Amino acid sequence: MPIEVRRLSGAMGAEIFGVDLSQKLSDERWKEIRAAYNEHLAIFFPDQHLLPPHIIAFVERFGTPSIHPYLKPVNKDYPFVHELRKEPSHTINYGGAWHTDFTFVEKPNSANALYARITPEYGGDTMFANLYLAYDALSEGMKKLFDGVRLLSATGAFLDLVKVSPVVRDDTYEHLKNVPPAAHPVFRTIPETGRKCLYIDPGAALSFENMTVEESRPIINYLIALVQRPEFQFRYRWRPDVFGIWDNRCLIHYAVNDYPGQLRVMHRMSVVDTERPR
Ligand SMILES: [Fe+2]
Repeated sequence: MPIEVRRLSGAMGAEIFGVDLSQKLSDERWKEIRAAYNEHLAIFFPDQHLLPPHIIAFVERFGTPSIHPYLKPVNKDYPFVHELRKEPSHTINYGGAWHTDFTFVEKPNSANALYARITPEYGGDTMFANLYLAYDALSEGMKKLFDGVRLLSATGAFLDLVKVSPVVRDDTYEHLKNVPPAAHPVFRTIPETGRKCLYIDPGAALSFENMTVEESRPIINYLIALVQRPEFQFRYRWRPDVFGIWDNRCLIHYAVNDYPGQLRVMHRMSVVDTERPR
């Protein structure tokens, strides 16, 4: 039986049924899943029962696992799996603004995965926006003007978050404060699809290379507004035991902080690109 893929919105997103991720996947099954990922960009597998080694075995098929430099692991035997825990007493959350992960380094994460352990009764959704669709919506003039231009991404908003976040390691701010911006193409091509996307991280975009912040900012503001158009968005409501993975190269995401006083616990794992965005 092939997997069942149920599309969730016009912009992206699908739920996948008919596969148990705690079992070893055949190559054929993996090909189906990878094809669904390339097409839907954010895929979710309800009713999974996964321990950290299962999460690692599956996510490793998407690329090289990364040890998060600032979050604590779930268990010291499994350094690739980190816990994102928002206690009822926490007022701020992790990732509560539009961003992609780690654009301020030369090789940002290529995929992020979350496994929902405890979800609030309501709220705590993750929102996504599709950067392929944002690129497609640009005029031919803009595509030509910014072809080959690079955008500098800085720690900016992330640095502000780690100053106050209760879930990061204590030395995070010290580690991050002197990290220089990284330059990435404004338009990047995803090798598996051959499609271009508008590669902009609203939390990190600083300026275009060889341009001032003042010159860049109005255009960056326009591009950030563009990528947030409702038609390009998708919002996922988590339930316990859902495993999700999304393409961090061509999506931005936003962890919605709308569940004060409730507990939310997710296990998180990422894979990192082996080459720089092109
Ligand atoms: Fe994130």
